[in-house]
Amino acid sequence: MFASIGFLALVVSSTLGLDITQIQGPAWQSPFVGQTVTNVSGIVTAKASNGFYIQGAPSGDIRASTGLFVFSTSTTVLGAINVADHISLAGKVVEFRSSTSPDDLSATEMQSPTNIVVLSSNNSVAPLILGVDRSPPTQQLSALDVGPDGFLSVPNNQSRIDSTNATLQPDKFGLDFWSSLEGQLVTVKNPVAINFENRFGEFWIHGDWPVTGKNDRGGITMTFGPHGLPDANPEVVIVGSPLDGTKNPKVAVGKTFQDVTGVIQYQFGFYYILPLTAPTVVSSPDPTIPPTTLAFSGDSCVITIGDYNVENLTPTGATHLNTVAGHIANSLLTPDVMFVQEIQDNSGATDDGVVSANVTLSNLSNAIAKAGNTTTTYSFVEVVPVNDQDGGQPGGNIRPAYLYHSDRIKLVSGSPAGGPLDATEPIIGSDGKVSLTFNPGRIDPTNLAWDSSRKPLVAAWETSSGARFFTINVQLVSKLDSSSTQGNSRPPVNAGVEQRTSQVQVIAAFVKSLLDLDPHANIILAGDFNEYVQTRSVFSSFDGLLSELDEISGIDPVERYTYVFDQNTEQLDHIFVSSAIAKRGTEVEHIHVNNWASTLSARTSDHDPSVARLKVC
Ligand SMILES: *[C@@H]1O[C@H](CO)[C@@H](O)[C@H](O)[C@H]1NC(C)=O
Ligand SMILES: *[C@@H]1O[C@H](CO)[C@@H](O)[C@H](O)[C@H]1NC(C)=O
Ligand SMILES: *[C@@H]1O[C@H](CO)[C@@H](O)[C@H](O)[C@H]1NC(C)=O
Ligand SMILES: *[C@@H]1O[C@H](CO)[C@@H](O)[C@H](O)[C@H]1NC(C)=O
Ligand SMILES: *[C@@H]1O[C@H](CO)[C@@H](O)[C@H](O)[C@H]1NC(C)=O
Ligand SMILES: *[C@@H]1O[C@H](CO)[C@@H](O)[C@H](O)[C@H]1NC(C)=O
Ligand SMILES: *[C@@H]1O[C@H](CO)[C@@H](O)[C@H](O)[C@H]1NC(C)=O
Repeated sequence: MFASIGFLALVVSSTLGLDITQIQGPAWQSPFVGQTVTNVSGIVTAKASNGFYIQGAPSGDIRASTGLFVFSTSTTVLGAINVADHISLAGKVVEFRSSTSPDDLSATEMQSPTNIVVLSSNNSVAPLILGVDRSPPTQQLSALDVGPDGFLSVPNNQSRIDSTNATLQPDKFGLDFWSSLEGQLVTVKNPVAINFENRFGEFWIHGDWPVTGKNDRGGITMTFGPHGLPDANPEVVIVGSPLDGTKNPKVAVGKTFQDVTGVIQYQFGFYYILPLTAPTVVSSPDPTIPPTTLAFSGDSCVITIGDYNVENLTPTGATHLNTVAGHIANSLLTPDVMFVQEIQDNSGATDDGVVSANVTLSNLSNAIAKAGNTTTTYSFVEVVPVNDQDGGQPGGNIRPAYLYHSDRIKLVSGSPAGGPLDATEPIIGSDGKVSLTFNPGRIDPTNLAWDSSRKPLVAAWETSSGARFFTINVQLVSKLDSSSTQGNSRPPVNAGVEQRTSQVQVIAAFVKSLLDLDPHANIILAGDFNEYVQTRSVFSSFDGLLSELDEISGIDPVERYTYVFDQNTEQLDHIFVSSAIAKRGTEVEHIHVNNWASTLSARTSDHDPSVARLKVC
């Protein structure tokens, strides 16, 4: 009856007759790590190219998973077992890391399986139905994310999950929840994609269970939770490569799928569901993306502004340039002033000493006119940076710039344009009005806060009716090299957070000096802050000086987004205004020309643009 596949274990330290739940244990690490265990039994739930999954009976302790991955690439081993076989085996318990990154958590697995005995075949294992049998918590990832901003608290990287090895709290914390299902067979009912696929064809989903932060498109937005802490969106999981070798479909935010069954596994920094086979698409969201409703009103006291990180725009990439131009002409409806970021120099990402971007900007301006079927082109203004000093793609010299309608607004005259190292300052001009020493100019460009980063571009403007307003266009230092939100370091490493905090302080000091001269000054600060407002520590120096436009315009918190990264739909691009503008009433819209793209390759920039309509008199 029993089909033994004859390996004889040379057992040094061994333990007999363990349940899988005992091997998994209630904590992050197995109590049996490093030990050889014998006579472990379970039903094979899935086979992979590098091993198989077995599942035993539950123990009554939800912290201890009933599933276990058995690593083996031996064709003899893999050939001797079938899905649904009840087997017993021996092997070594290992805490395995899928990468050399110290930030990866380990996953409990069995290695070097021996004494595999097939006890019976054609058994069935009922998958745990997520949303029915158990549901993930919706707010926090880990008990170790302590601090005033939860998982976004500073300082971060204060403790590590594996060295703490606490017992799991799966009802409270997302990482604990997914860890308690490690190796176990689960079903996700009615999955919805919440991002595009990554370069490995993996994609994030949520299923039919309570979620918070869900936006109209189907993504899960980063918001504040009910206790005032940032909501880390732990209630989602990433779909890995199907175990049967089939390929995942191409996805987009809001696509839906037939139920997915697979095993939970930690790898490459995240908790995955490895589906038994490729998910089947049920529906795709409407591909039409309506233009802004915030068009030019004809009132000279009301200005429209647009803000768009155009992602490494060069003068030669015609497809990219024309698509961006089409967005500005036909989706943003050519606002009076466009704040653009990531304008590359005239030679693009070639490190040849070229720094001016006048060809890039003039090509963009011409392409916008063409896309809008008009002969009226935008004027543009930049401060040409010092070569290779502002970070970004090597040789590209990315910078913020303005496009503006010179028939509706003009730069305040009387001050020279600043050079890259000139710090512009607010002054009272001969007409008694506040102006700038350099117009346009940069804020404190030699301050260390701007090291290898874009310096803010400030300008003073006047409308045709003589109303004056100031703009500050920023792209703060990036989050590149941050750690996984589901990684070992807690709170997760938020790369660049100290520098971004300093940059905001320098901008706040400039805004304050302007408001000291004129408390009623119209100030608009916009751009790519590379940070969410939920990281309150970064933005705290704006308190009392500027208001965030989404908030004062009453945008639903789940619709406040311009970006999607891993599991989170989030807002990296913000507009802040001074109280003179805030008190007159404001309007803002995020136009999701990129995050609502029907495929990843149809996306032109990783950021969505925004449009605002503001009263400056
Ligand atoms: C982790 O904690 C569990 C439960 O307290 C304990 O049994 C196990 O030995 C610990 N593992 C390590 C590697 O410290
Ligand atoms: C192995 O475990 C089974 C139950 O799973 C038990 O019936 C059997 O006696 C055990 N064998 C040994 C050698 O302990
Ligand atoms: C398992 O079921 C399949 C069909 O579902 C059958 O062909 C096979 O004989 C069964 N095997 C055993 C050992 O019962
Ligand atoms: C996080 O902390 C660990 C020490 O616990 C250190 O080795 C690592 O370099 C830190 N990572 C970052 C990005 O600061
Ligand atoms: C940009 O303008 C230059 C001339 O100034 C032209 O040679 C080039 O083809 C233009 N690029 C695009 C993409 O239109
Ligand atoms: C760019 O600037 C250079 C140097 O001032 C000038 O010769 C050239 O005509 C400008 N090109 C465009 C398209 O504005
Ligand atoms: C511009 O003209 C093209 C071709 O005639 C047309 O398809 C497009 O809708 C027009 N766009 C605008 C903004 O008028």
